[in-house]
Amino acid sequence: MTTGSHIERLRARLLGKTGAPRADADADAPPAVDRRVTVRPEHYDFAHFPEMREYANTRWYYDNQGFEWNMFREHVGVTSAEVEIDGRRMINFSSYNYLDLAGDPRVKEAAKRAIDDYGTSTGSGRIIVGEIPLFGEFERELADVLGVEAAVMGVSGWGTNAGAIGYLARKQDLILYDELVHNSMLTGAKISGARRFAFAHNDCDALDRLLSEHRGQYERVLILTEGVFSMDGDIPDVPRLIDIKRRHKALLMVDEAHSMGVIGPRGLGVVDHFGLNGADIDIHFSTLSKSFATIGGYVAGRNELVTMLKHYAPGIGLYIASPNPANAAAALEALRIMRAEPERARNVVAIADYFRERAQAAGLDIGPSHASAVVPVMIAESETALWLAARLFDNGVFAFPMIFPVVPRNAARLRFFLNTAHTRGHVDRTIALLAQLKASAPPAKGLF
Ligand SMILES: Cc1ncc(COP(=O)(O)O)c(C=O)c1O
Repeated sequence: MTTGSHIERLRARLLGKTGAPRADADADAPPAVDRRVTVRPEHYDFAHFPEMREYANTRWYYDNQGFEWNMFREHVGVTSAEVEIDGRRMINFSSYNYLDLAGDPRVKEAAKRAIDDYGTSTGSGRIIVGEIPLFGEFERELADVLGVEAAVMGVSGWGTNAGAIGYLARKQDLILYDELVHNSMLTGAKISGARRFAFAHNDCDALDRLLSEHRGQYERVLILTEGVFSMDGDIPDVPRLIDIKRRHKALLMVDEAHSMGVIGPRGLGVVDHFGLNGADIDIHFSTLSKSFATIGGYVAGRNELVTMLKHYAPGIGLYIASPNPANAAAALEALRIMRAEPERARNVVAIADYFRERAQAAGLDIGPSHASAVVPVMIAESETALWLAARLFDNGVFAFPMIFPVVPRNAARLRFFLNTAHTRGHVDRTIALLAQLKASAPPAKGLF
């Protein structure tokens, strides 16, 4: 158990020995330089920032409950269907190495070759002297797979997503986003300065109404959604979204972080899943940290879109170094394997379907998850989710608890990422254990 004595000291300092907030919270504050101005410690001393109070409370809760601290766990080897932590072999549902390519010898070899050819960094932004043939090769093959004109690869998924949205929308524009889209989309929307409205999750009627009411007052309108939602594992009605965006002359952007490489008969994402044309979606985005077995992100679509992002978008083409050669080589090799071995995608969805079926048979609530490799088991109370994750871990199963603020209050869950290497044995053992633990979970005390 992590006792974290510095955490106890921090908590005592912030909250006092009784745990009650101290009335004299700033009594030990040094006098301000200008005596007419009182600057409170929470405005200049990190240890007094409310965020640290939150952190201290969380650590205290874990220690108080006898839970091992579950964040920043170190592992050895590759994270696949199993992972080694603290010398123990665990069944792993916490990494999104969906196609099991992160340790694939062909992907590793390609990355090593790129290091031999180009070193560990290009030492520059692409636009200056950071360009290497691998970037273009990956982008052309990706555009071909998606059925679009062009693609641009960026350094991180989060940054490429936020950078593209932040660049494409302006003050005079409107962004309508599904209430459950990823933080990288929300951040991009915020930095864009555009007017923003959320629509209820997957509610196309609500989106249509918002557009009917507001479209006329704005110039560009962006609609943001995901191919597979990362916390719920469900898929939006993309054909309907395409119809709506066409009628209202808006632009549709789909974040395919959890759908590319996984859904569709060939595993090639929403275009493949719904039998669409690549051009039906204006802005294709995905991270490279999941099915592509590396890190980075891409945006794909029309030539003009990609030209603008490459030449002008901060965080994609400007003010940022080029992607790493080894990452581009790994992504390119993963893409080629994805195309050549579509059974990987079929296997990961099949084992996720099996997980869903067994979970439901055991009376577990899997929310709206379907046809994807993300399966939540809904728990509701954060404390119960933390308790279950800790007990699963003790029993050799690593599934991460998702609690507020990552999901709404009272919507805590355990999230299971399935991997093409998971077996029915892994699933059977996990479901049996989880059902048994859930039945014996202590009632939540309202401590967290
Ligand atoms: C839906 C979604 N979009 C974007 C990202 C950001 O990608 P990355 O973590 O590779 O930067 C993530 C990451 O987890 C994600 O789940």
